[in-house]
Amino acid sequence: MAYRLLNFDHRLFDAYNIQCVSRISTSNRRRKASFLAGRLAARMALQQHGIFDFSIGQGAMGEPLWPPSLYGSISHTQEHAVAVCIKSDSGDCIGVDIESITKATRIMSISRVIFSLSESARVAQMPTSLSHEELVTLLFSCKESLIKAAYAAGHVILRFHDIATVDLDSDGQVLLELVAKPARDVLGTRFTAYYVFPPECQGSVLTTVRMPLISPRRQRPGSVPNVGFVSER
Ligand SMILES: CC(C)(COP(=O)(O)OP(=O)(O)OC[C@H]1O[C@@H](n2cnc3c(N)ncnc32)[C@H](O)[C@@H]1OP(=O)(O)O)[C@@H](O)C(=O)NCCC(=O)NCCS
Repeated sequence: MAYRLLNFDHRLFDAYNIQCVSRISTSNRRRKASFLAGRLAARMALQQHGIFDFSIGQGAMGEPLWPPSLYGSISHTQEHAVAVCIKSDSGDCIGVDIESITKATRIMSISRVIFSLSESARVAQMPTSLSHEELVTLLFSCKESLIKAAYAAGHVILRFHDIATVDLDSDGQVLLELVAKPARDVLGTRFTAYYVFPPECQGSVLTTVRMPLISPRRQRPGSVPNVGFVSER
């Protein structure tokens, strides 16, 4: 879903009947707009599952709180918001991430944060038609998706270095492996992240990863006027 920061107004929270949680109410305009857009995308995802009146709360770590029948995830850039949810009886949790392709000037610093030295060397050797900026942003996004899925799956807090990139293919899949202790019972497990460079979100990459549920999560229970803030694409 696309949204326009320029058209954001705090009153839209009321107009859309979306609760501006306390942590966001003191945030800047940009953050409020992305939060609202994320919640609107989540509302659309819930509607796909026949749920029309659920208010998605916010957990202690900032995670969205979905209805008991679903696991989901939210992400946003400054122009787009995305949300996915899947049925909880699938036994899988899900993470989603959308990222604007990182500028060349920031690639070195981001690489240092998300890759170990050996991973960095391995990634540099990966045969791909992607530019280095696209590749690094893609792998960053895959890790963010897995971080979200792991938290949803069992409140497992992963860091970037807990996750190693194993392989990348040109058909939209990246193989990731959990390589460090915080991953507890999922240590050594491999996960496939799916990616796309959506033509309708030019200059962005979208990734998603599923992870089997590790332990029961905490759950909490809970027609939009279009004023040019969002468009469904
Ligand atoms: C939390 C984190 C994954 C968010 O990713 P991001 O690329 O910065 O931002 P995105 O727009 O993609 O995602 C933001 C959304 O992630 C979701 N989110 C936030 N914390 C989350 C968590 N612990 N688990 C799952 N989803 C989470 C929220 O829905 C949030 O949007 P909202 O606040 O508008 O509802 C990222 O900041 C991160 O990896 N931080 C590392 C340190 C950390 O906070 N770890 C705790 C996560 S386990």
